[in-house]
Amino acid sequence: MPENETTAPSLENLLHETRAFPPSPAFAAQANAQPSLYEEAKADRLGFWADQARELVSWSTPFTQTLDWSEAPVARWFADGQLNAAYNAVDRHVEAGRGDRVAIHFEGEPGDTRTVTYADLQREVSRAANALTSLGVTKGDRVVIYLPMLVESVVAMLACARIGAPHSVVFGGFSADALRSRIADAEAKLVITADGGYRRGAPSALKPAVDEAIGPKDGEPATTVEHVLVVRRTEQDVDWTEGRDVWWHDALERADTFHEPVPVDAEHPLFILYTSGTTGKPKGILHTTGGYLTQAAYTHKNVFDLKAESDVYWCTADIGWVTGHTYVVYGPLTNGATQVLYEGTPDTPHRGRWWELVEKYKVSILYTAPTAIRTCMKWGEDIPAGFDLSSLRVLGSVGEPINPEAWMWYRRVIGGDTAPIVDTWWQTETGAIMISPLPGVTATKPGSAQVALPGIVADVVDDEARSVPDGGGGYLVLSEPWPSMLRGIWGDLQRFKDTYWSRFEGLYFAGDGAKKDEDGDIWLLGRVDDVMNVSGHRLSTTEIESALVSHDVVAEAAVVGANDETTGQAVVAFVILRGEHADRASTPEGAEEVQQELRNHVAKEIGPIAKPRRILVVPELPKTRSGKIMRRLLRDVAENRTVGDATTLADSSVMDLISAGLAKPSAANED
Ligand code: PRX
Repeated sequence: MPENETTAPSLENLLHETRAFPPSPAFAAQANAQPSLYEEAKADRLGFWADQARELVSWSTPFTQTLDWSEAPVARWFADGQLNAAYNAVDRHVEAGRGDRVAIHFEGEPGDTRTVTYADLQREVSRAANALTSLGVTKGDRVVIYLPMLVESVVAMLACARIGAPHSVVFGGFSADALRSRIADAEAKLVITADGGYRRGAPSALKPAVDEAIGPKDGEPATTVEHVLVVRRTEQDVDWTEGRDVWWHDALERADTFHEPVPVDAEHPLFILYTSGTTGKPKGILHTTGGYLTQAAYTHKNVFDLKAESDVYWCTADIGWVTGHTYVVYGPLTNGATQVLYEGTPDTPHRGRWWELVEKYKVSILYTAPTAIRTCMKWGEDIPAGFDLSSLRVLGSVGEPINPEAWMWYRRVIGGDTAPIVDTWWQTETGAIMISPLPGVTATKPGSAQVALPGIVADVVDDEARSVPDGGGGYLVLSEPWPSMLRGIWGDLQRFKDTYWSRFEGLYFAGDGAKKDEDGDIWLLGRVDDVMNVSGHRLSTTEIESALVSHDVVAEAAVVGANDETTGQAVVAFVILRGEHADRASTPEGAEEVQQELRNHVAKEIGPIAKPRRILVVPELPKTRSGKIMRRLLRDVAENRTVGDATTLADSSVMDLISAGLAKPSAANED
């Protein structure tokens, strides 16, 4: 397979795409979703959601009100009902006689495995809930979870839900500093972590980052954390603070296997998940229980056509991201699915690891990100061809636009030319899938998420909030509240209103550009704000700029996301060095050293995922007369294009200066 078949999403490609793949009659006949779902939802949207909530979720106190939008934009769904998310995800399946069903086929990176049934999960989650309670965690307390992909991670989340303690999962790849700011913002009482996890064939430590994150630091007092629960995974030596640190297995061994789930109000916070925005400070996106669980279960059932008795489902996302919350934990478990949970990377110990797992567990539904598909394309199709992938019947994509070439490859090489692909658009904020084809109903188009799901109202509007005609482009908005919508930003209601609800009156502004094709189908075109998407992970340009300028040598920094064949976008930083350090970068070796230092600094401040691919030392940055950095011009430089119109710059010679400086080999470097 020639390398150049993997291209990053481009508008050019999308606009010329005309292929469509109608569902096979056989698939359509057995599909969970039928075309009538759209009509039902259209006829009575709120009634439709109330039906879903009653059908897919068990309530300890039934609700009588569906939506209260009187405090818009903060929605209240099913507000007088009560339920427990862990009961829904675990106990009710056991009570219904399905305790022997496998909930999780766990596969560790080194090859260790564990099979967890729903009955096992009930015992583990109950023990963990009792352990948390005995450590003083009660309803409403926040618990931060900083773990690799382990069974314990799922158990930890559900144990929090069981006692009504909102969890905040922090991705294990984030640094101690990033962890600290999230712990501080959430005012967490307890942290659940591990000694480490396996990553690319070696143990990688986690506990030291927690130790660093929670104590006093740089004149700041210690955080609110009282206890650290530590899962033993890698057997690495760990520093231990007596009285504060507790081994997970000790605490669980002591705990009773019976625990009564605590019923909470539908609007009780289920979790806070931090995500990057356009400013330096990550936002704590708040999700509550009843509406979230309803939409998680509804989308998981219909978008993936889940047949809980026979399917083996696998979502490759880490629980540190929203996809892991909704489509590893709450959606599949609420629906009683059997799923694969894999700890490691796709290329350890070999590049066929994922396909080996699909063959081994007979995975029938696979949900992953375009960046992973493009990486597999680069590795060559003979690798998946070496495994039996015939069990796969539905394929999902999420996190970034999927380019038609990758879509076609996914369908042909992984899906045997028959499995429908669902390209699912959603966000941390939306909580669950919003725009996606329905398998068995929609004729799919390579590269398009196509249609709002039944019950969801989305549109593409122009600058004046006018709906664009078919064939037109603009901004993606959501026009009606939906059950799993965020209920705010933790501790900052105003920021919630400003970020999502101020751009267009009465409409939720997602931050994405989009186009409607001649059929009215939606094509996502990427972010229109200062948020980048690197390998399906959201990164803020401002956050990385703040990290760079917090280093002594940097006077000013500007960050852009440049197109990248595999990762969608790559972080490229332009920095001006402080006077006394400028000389250091004047030789190739000196420049290399500074660049390396800055990369490591960003990894320390945020995490390795935010490390700039390239750092370019420049004498000036292009700014408008009002002082705004023109990132568009920097993107031209980063993508090796002719620099566009620079006439609005305060000093139009700046781009010449930058280009001249970059022509010198010392100033640019690439991994
Ligand atoms: O730009 C869109 C892109 O990912 C953003 C949301 O990122 P995050 O909150 O991290 O959630 C990712 C997983 C749900 C969106 O604003 N995005 C997500 N899915 C798609 C997508 N862009 C195009 N097509 C998608 N299917």
